[in-house]
Amino acid sequence: MTYGCGSNSDCSSQLSRLERVLRRARSADADAIAAVLTAARAEQAFIPLLHTPEDDRRFVTERMLPANEVWVVDEAGEVVGFASFGHDRVGHLYVAPRAQGSGIGRVLLAKVKERRPDGFTLWTHQPNAPARTFYEREGLATVEFTDGSANQEKVPDVRYEWRPRGRGAHG
Ligand SMILES: CC(C)(COP(=O)(O)OP(=O)(O)OC[C@H]1O[C@@H](n2cnc3c(N)ncnc32)[C@H](O)[C@@H]1OP(=O)(O)O)[C@@H](O)C(=O)NCCC(=O)NCCS
Repeated sequence: MTYGCGSNSDCSSQLSRLERVLRRARSADADAIAAVLTAARAEQAFIPLLHTPEDDRRFVTERMLPANEVWVVDEAGEVVGFASFGHDRVGHLYVAPRAQGSGIGRVLLAKVKERRPDGFTLWTHQPNAPARTFYEREGLATVEFTDGSANQEKVPDVRYEWRPRGRGAHG
């Protein structure tokens, strides 16, 4: 399979289906990104649902997009996954439930590695076994565990780190 490339992509990632495009997010994507976030969180029984869809739309518009580098996978004109990251930390990596397990998360994470070649960290909840399996398969390593008292959901969490090969760790 071949992947299409958005205007801001260099086509070097492991892209796949022709109708899928990996590209930088635009402000017009805000509602679609929020819809992915809302739908994916709704499937996660291990965390309390703290935010309404409207909260998620406001968060994406007012906080995520202005302050982060955000990439989306667009499938036939519909956003099906996104990654949002700052200088050295990935804030969000989410794929719509119906599109999970088809390689989108891997493509997004590969883009983060390309854009942050010195490495990065991210947090996930300890009970999020699917995400933890995914991150560990993608070469991230656990570096810190907490009891969750400092996160919004109060669910134990774990910090992962990715460092490029030859610079001390994983990849
Ligand atoms: C975790 C997540 C980002 C992974 O993205 P994805 O598009 O589903 O993953 P991919 O299809 O790219 O999977 C890449 C590899 O991981 C494997 N994988 C994906 N989900 C898995 C799961 N639940 N259990 C075991 N392996 C899994 C895939 O089989 C694939 O391996 P393969 O290429 O050898 O077949 C996505 O499932 C998601 O959005 N989950 C809900 C939100 C979330 O928890 N985000 C992380 C919060 S920090």
